[in-house]
Amino acid sequence: MNFHIITIFPESFKSYFSSSIMDKAMKNNLFSIELYKLNDFSKLSSKRVDDKAYGMHWQVISAEVLSDAIEFIFKKVWKKIPVIYMTPSWELLNQEKVEYFYENLKNDCIIICWHYEWIDERIVELYVDFEISIWEYVLSSWELAASVFIDSFVRNISWVLGNKLSLEEDSFSKKFERKKEYPVYTRPKIFKNLEVPEILLSGNHAEIENWKKNNLHK
Ligand SMILES: C[S@@+](CC[C@H](N)C(=O)[O-])C[C@H]1O[C@@H](n2cnc3c(N)ncnc32)[C@H](O)[C@@H]1O
Repeated sequence: MNFHIITIFPESFKSYFSSSIMDKAMKNNLFSIELYKLNDFSKLSSKRVDDKAYGMHWQVISAEVLSDAIEFIFKKVWKKIPVIYMTPSWELLNQEKVEYFYENLKNDCIIICWHYEWIDERIVELYVDFEISIWEYVLSSWELAASVFIDSFVRNISWVLGNKLSLEEDSFSKKFERKKEYPVYTRPKIFKNLEVPEILLSGNHAEIENWKKNNLHK
């Protein structure tokens, strides 16, 4: 999967994906991120990309520059690809939706992210296929929101996680009927008077499987 990200601050996005699982997955070509600096598409000598919103007191990203950036990417990949807009005020992301995106977004998608307030609504009408909110609170910018979405998506790709079981048995998985994962323990067997459930020490895999299902967190 290639994520084409349109932003005014490409540099602020890189750090999260340059360590651990995400970094390894990118180095193994399991997914990629391409950053497009929106200002490069501005026709103004100042390279500004926003303007004052009609009837409001804040700035809005202008339709022309964003449309030019989107069309540039369509041409580059030779086709129209899904466009995602990260915004706090739309559909909330959950594990089921992550799986839906994983199954339905094919090879490429564009993610539009923004600092400050809004993008011109006509971009949403003309281009945006999915509006995604990572939950009901407002962040000051998009990087965290887009990173949350990409990370949750990418861990579904085969080989990104070393152990396939971790994906199947995570909280909110189909296997656990979207409930939260069971508790886990390690040595010592007794810690501050709290004992590890006996069944986990039994070596009986069938019973341990049963125990897991009956001990999912509420
Ligand atoms: C300050 S927010 C804009 C808030 C917007 N004026 C509102 O009231 O909904 C700036 C940017 O951060 C990103 N963002 C902030 N919170 C988010 C969330 N919960 N989910 C997804 N994106 C978010 C979006 O890209 C948004 O355009």
